[in-house]
Amino acid sequence: MKNNHPPFSTFTRSCLIAACLSAAVHGATDTPPLVKLERPVPAWLTNAVFYQIYPQSFADTNGDGIGDLRGIISKLDYVKSLGVSAIWLNPFYDSPFGDAGYDVRDYKKVAPRYGTNLDAKLLISEAHKRGIRVIVDLVAGHTSVEHPWFQESLHKDAKTDKGFYVWAPKDANVQDFIASPGPREGKYLKNFFPFQPALNYGYGRPDPARPWEHRPSSPDCMAVREAMRDVMKYWLDQGCDGFRVDMAASLIKKDDNKELAALWNDYRTWLKRYKPDAVLVSEWSNPAKAIPSGFDIDFIIHFENPAYRHLMNPIVQRDNANHSFFSVDGSGDITAFLAEYLQQYEKTKALGFISLPTGNHDFSRPRFQGREIPDLKVIYTMLLTMPGVPFIYYGDEIGMRNLKGWPDKEGAQWRGSCRSPMQWTAGTNAGFSTAPADKLYLPLDPDPQRPNVADQEKDPNSLLNFTRQLIALRQKNPSLGPLGGFKPLYAQKGAYPFVYLRSGGPENFIIAVNPSPAATECDVPELDGATLVVGSGAEASGAKLKMAPASYAIYRTKSIH
Ligand code: GLC
Ligand code: CA
Repeated sequence: MKNNHPPFSTFTRSCLIAACLSAAVHGATDTPPLVKLERPVPAWLTNAVFYQIYPQSFADTNGDGIGDLRGIISKLDYVKSLGVSAIWLNPFYDSPFGDAGYDVRDYKKVAPRYGTNLDAKLLISEAHKRGIRVIVDLVAGHTSVEHPWFQESLHKDAKTDKGFYVWAPKDANVQDFIASPGPREGKYLKNFFPFQPALNYGYGRPDPARPWEHRPSSPDCMAVREAMRDVMKYWLDQGCDGFRVDMAASLIKKDDNKELAALWNDYRTWLKRYKPDAVLVSEWSNPAKAIPSGFDIDFIIHFENPAYRHLMNPIVQRDNANHSFFSVDGSGDITAFLAEYLQQYEKTKALGFISLPTGNHDFSRPRFQGREIPDLKVIYTMLLTMPGVPFIYYGDEIGMRNLKGWPDKEGAQWRGSCRSPMQWTAGTNAGFSTAPADKLYLPLDPDPQRPNVADQEKDPNSLLNFTRQLIALRQKNPSLGPLGGFKPLYAQKGAYPFVYLRSGGPENFIIAVNPSPAATECDVPELDGATLVVGSGAEASGAKLKMAPASYAIYRTKSIH
C-alpha cells in the first residue's frame, strides 16, 4: 500500500543509515553525535515540522461563518510557504458538535458543514502535490452518544449487546458511569464529557467481582479494536499519512501500561505494514510511556507531564501562578523544565520524538499573560531548535492573541480563547469569512491592531517571516532536527539565559534565549569563535555572552568535533 508521491521521493532513504554514518564521522567525546535510532521512523519525520489546523476556524469559503475543507485547500500555498512538512487536521467528521467534533457520530463521513468526503480526499492530494503530508485526528477512545454503535447498544440488553461500550448495572458502585438515557437499564462508562461513551477496549486488571470489566483480549474488546482499525484503514485509503490519537492513554482502563503498550504496538505493527511512511502521534503527554508503546511522537502538553508547565504554563485558568521559564516577569527556572524533559528525552530519543508545540486547541496561545510579539520570537527560537518535532498551531506564526473569556462554544469551556478565526488580512472579518460578524464560528479578536498574514508577508521582520526563517534553518541542518545531539551549556537554577548545543551535523549550533525582562550575562566557553546566524539583543565576545531583555541568538559554532 506504499503510496509514493513524486515530491516525497527524495526522502525515501532510511534515516537509520544517515544517522549511523554521521555519528561515526563526528564521534566526539563531549559533543553529542546524531542519535542512532533503535526503531525505524519514516525518514520524512527526521526533519519534520507540523502545522495544526482547526478546520472550523481557518478559512470559510461558502460564507456560513464556519471554516471548511475547501477553505483549507485554498490556503495550502500559504501553508507550503511556511516550509512545514505536514498538517495535523482536527476532527472534521460528522458529529453533533457537543465537543467541537471530538464526539464522532460517523468516523467515515465528513461533517456537511466542512464539505464532503471528496473534499477531504482532494485536500489530501492537493497537500501531497505540494510535498505536505496530512495526519488526521483519530478519536479512538469514545464516540458520540449519537453514533449508531451506541444507539444500538442503548436499545439492546446485556445478553444481545455486542459489547462495544462498558455497561454496569444501575446500582453498581462505580465512578464515571452515566445513567442510561434510553430503554436499556444500567449505566455506561464515559470517557470525557458524559455524551462521549468510552469504547470497550478492556481493563488491564479486571475485577472478577465486576463482570463489565473485560480483558482486552476478550472477543468484544477485540471487535472494538478491529472496528477502529477499519476507521484507520478508511482514512489511509483516502491518502492520509497517519494519525494524531486523541486521549491515547485512555483506551485501556486500570492498566499498568502493559495492555495499553500491547494495544498500540499492535496498531503500530499493522500501520507500518499497511503504509510504511505513516506516523502515529499521541495525545498522552508522557513520552516515556507513549513512545515505547508504539508512537512516533508524543506531545508534552498541559496535563500529566509537568515539564511544559515549567516552560510555558499553558493553562488559561491558572494564570495567577505563572512561574514558567517563558513568563514575562522572569520568575521561571529552566532546571525545573530540564529535570523533567531530559528524563523523558533520554528514555525515548532512540525510538521516537517529543513535541513541544507552540499551542493547540486545548490550551492557551503563547501570546498571553503579557507576552507580546517580540517575546514570541524568543520562545519560537527555542521551540524550533529543540530536539523532537515542532508543531505550530494555526495563527501562532503571526502572534494571534489568546482571548481570555471567549465564548464557550461547542463544549469549549475556557478553550474558546485559542480557537478564534484565523486572521488573514486587515479587511472585513480578517479575511476569514464573508458572513456577518455575528455568524462567525467564534468572534474575532476585536483589537484594531490584530496581526494578520497579509501585513506580515510584507514585513521582513515580522513574526511570520521569522518563523519561516527558523523552520528553514532547522530543516537544512540535521543537527537542529530530532536526531541532532542536545546538550545544555548554561542552565542554572532560577537564572537566565538558557544556552544549549545542537550537534552531530555538518554544522553545529549554539542557541541562547533570554525571555526575562532583565539583561543578563554568562560565560559559555563553547561560544568562542562562533558566528551569529539569527539573533537580536545578544552579544558574544570570546566566551562572554551578554543578553538584553527578551533576546535570542543562534550561533554556528566553530566546529566542536
Ligand atoms: C482531547 C482533545 C480535546 C477533547 C478531548 C475529548 O483532549 O484534544 O479537544 O475535548 O480529547 O475528546
Ligand atoms: Ca463554511
